[in-house]
Amino acid sequence: MLINNWYVAAAASEVRRDKPLKVRMLACDFVLFRDDKDKAVCLSDVCCHRGASLGRGEMNGCNVVCPYHGWEFAGDGRCTLIPAMGSEVTIPKRVRVDAYPTQEKYGWVWVFLGDLPESQRPRIPDLFPEYDDPVGWHRIPYGFEAKTNWMRFEENSLDTAHTQFVHRQFGAKRTPKLENFPLEESEWGARVTRRKPAPKPDQKSGEMAKMLSEERLNTSVALEFSLVGLCHRIQPTFKEGMTQINFTARTPVDRKLSRAIGWQARNYLKEPQFDAERMAGIQLAVVEDLSVVEDLKPPITPAKLSDEFLTETDSMEMAFRKRCFKWAAQGYEIDLDEYERRSQTEMLVIPSPARREDPKNWVHKTVPLKPASKESRD
Ligand code: FES
Ligand SMILES: [Fe+2]
Repeated sequence: MLINNWYVAAAASEVRRDKPLKVRMLACDFVLFRDDKDKAVCLSDVCCHRGASLGRGEMNGCNVVCPYHGWEFAGDGRCTLIPAMGSEVTIPKRVRVDAYPTQEKYGWVWVFLGDLPESQRPRIPDLFPEYDDPVGWHRIPYGFEAKTNWMRFEENSLDTAHTQFVHRQFGAKRTPKLENFPLEESEWGARVTRRKPAPKPDQKSGEMAKMLSEERLNTSVALEFSLVGLCHRIQPTFKEGMTQINFTARTPVDRKLSRAIGWQARNYLKEPQFDAERMAGIQLAVVEDLSVVEDLKPPITPAKLSDEFLTETDSMEMAFRKRCFKWAAQGYEIDLDEYERRSQTEMLVIPSPARREDPKNWVHKTVPLKPASKESRD
């Protein structure tokens, strides 16, 4: 799992002023709430007194109150009140928890889990501009968890070849050959458009079946991912002028559990009465994917590309892996074995930007990271 990246913590509507929200990401716990300007705040969830979960506490104005002894923490992570000591004591600077940068985009709260200063942080990509065009596009939200490693999970979405075999409504087992086009690569992402054989009309149901009743040869699918923000968009064009976008962000919860949050936007059948049918289609596809992906071996994507037999049609998955490996090589990968061993007796947190300015005055230590490396993982 990689630090110094943006991850979606929650839908913006779940983050409130009156109630803390506990969220797990990168095998660490966080608490989210809103300050007096309605800005989303994300703190390390573990109280630096004796380890209770702030997310199980309550709000007092803009401060989160620990449920164990009532210590209060402000949006910048500083402790502002130790009730048992009285309000007259000066609270040392060290009594604080990490506070992480947040940004709201596409109706979600993204959190920067790392310690890079603002000037060095990557930008959340503009992968879903249609979000701001509610007339041209009708959107529905979705979200689900998968008992699978985040890389295995993301690779499943970048894989066009699997749809022919895994998905009943849009697969075409009889004609699985894909037309491959070169990837357009950027530093932290890649994009490709592929033509895949269209499913038979009788594989579709409901209103979609009526709209796609004539025999079609191909569906064109535009696919793009960004490791920054760990998100992707998949845009099939079923026939001229009829297209939809699935924009999804992934969040590693821990080594073998991941979360997805997404929007499906469509430019056809835009009335809400068709949402249930679209949602049923998404749910079916998720169940079909998870039936395969939750059972992959090894459960964690292998450390080298040559540990599996990858082909040309796996080019997006390879592009994704290479970028993950490159991110890790900067010294940004959590050493999970060491983390799990040490965290039995030590509270370890993702470093926040304030630690760069003041590395000493903290109660909790930071998660161990694998060293930066130049070793090839081809
Ligand atoms: S553990 Fe939080 S106030 Fe004591
Ligand atoms: Fe799939």
